[in-house]
Amino acid sequence: MRKVIVIGSNGQLGRTIKDCATKETLEFYFFFRSELDITDKKSLMAAFKDSGFDYCVNCAAYTNVEDAEANTEDAFLVNAEGAKNVAEVCNTYQVKLIHISTDYVFDGKKNEPYTITDQTNPINQYGKSKLQGELDIQEHLEEFYIIRTSWLYSLYGKNFLKTIINKLEDGSVLNITTEEQGTPTSCVELAEFIIYLVKSDKTPYGIYNFSANGSTTWFGFAQEIAKHLPHRNSNQVLPTDKFKTLAKRPKYSLLNLKKRKLTIENF
Ligand SMILES: NC(=O)c1ccc[n+]([C@@H]2O[C@H](COP(=O)([O-])OP(=O)(O)OC[C@H]3O[C@@H](n4cnc5c(N)ncnc54)[C@H](OP(=O)(O)O)[C@@H]3O)[C@@H](O)[C@H]2O)c1
Repeated sequence: MRKVIVIGSNGQLGRTIKDCATKETLEFYFFFRSELDITDKKSLMAAFKDSGFDYCVNCAAYTNVEDAEANTEDAFLVNAEGAKNVAEVCNTYQVKLIHISTDYVFDGKKNEPYTITDQTNPINQYGKSKLQGELDIQEHLEEFYIIRTSWLYSLYGKNFLKTIINKLEDGSVLNITTEEQGTPTSCVELAEFIIYLVKSDKTPYGIYNFSANGSTTWFGFAQEIAKHLPHRNSNQVLPTDKFKTLAKRPKYSLLNLKKRKLTIENF
């Protein structure tokens, strides 16, 4: 039975993979940050040694885009140095790596979906740190999948879907930005894709884009959420083009899904 280690497993994607894993015949090993810290290479080495892991799914990341502007070193420590540690350890123990990256490696100046070969040019520290992680993995490992995804939501952790539901249920009126266009993506779909990669065991290595289909703005997403809540209505969600954030965000970050569709049946 294939053995899969999932690192950063207390985050929203890690927890969703755990849910999806219950119906699989793969052997999963889940590690929280307190059990395995990717900035600590010695611990990684010890966890991988004699483990017989076939795949490593790296869900560990510094994901607070706003805080990364001030805490840039911390973001790079986890998203770049940590990713490099994971790649080196995977290389040492011949473990295939599935690493998660982001649409924020792009600057958002395009007006059609980003392909995997488009020029990267992150415009905030989070995106820069994630891109450095991608580059380090490519330098230190051959057997890797880097999955760029976007606007994740799930039942767990902090995410836009949960924040909007909570605020609407409080009766708040929300001003939501119309300035960014992207694709909200369910962690369940991404978790199923990750599990598919492990099960198929023959998908060509490399960078993949993975998101849901279609596109919207954060305002459009919030309106859609409001429509599905009983006793709430979309009048509680108002558009704004004046939403200020510390971190610059790409105005357009749709991902081109052609490679995924061509390479992988079922997805
Ligand atoms: N969220 C999005 O909208 C989005 C969009 C595109 C791409 N992504 C990427 O998708 C991946 C999963 O994101 P997510 O939304 O599931 O993130 P998340 O909910 O913030 O989870 C990240 C997890 O990483 C853990 N972690 C942080 N530093 C660590 C370290 N040094 N060693 C080990 N674990 C560490 C965190 O631990 P604690 O629980 O202790 O904090 C947390 O459990 C990330 O690579 C992210 O960059 C996310």
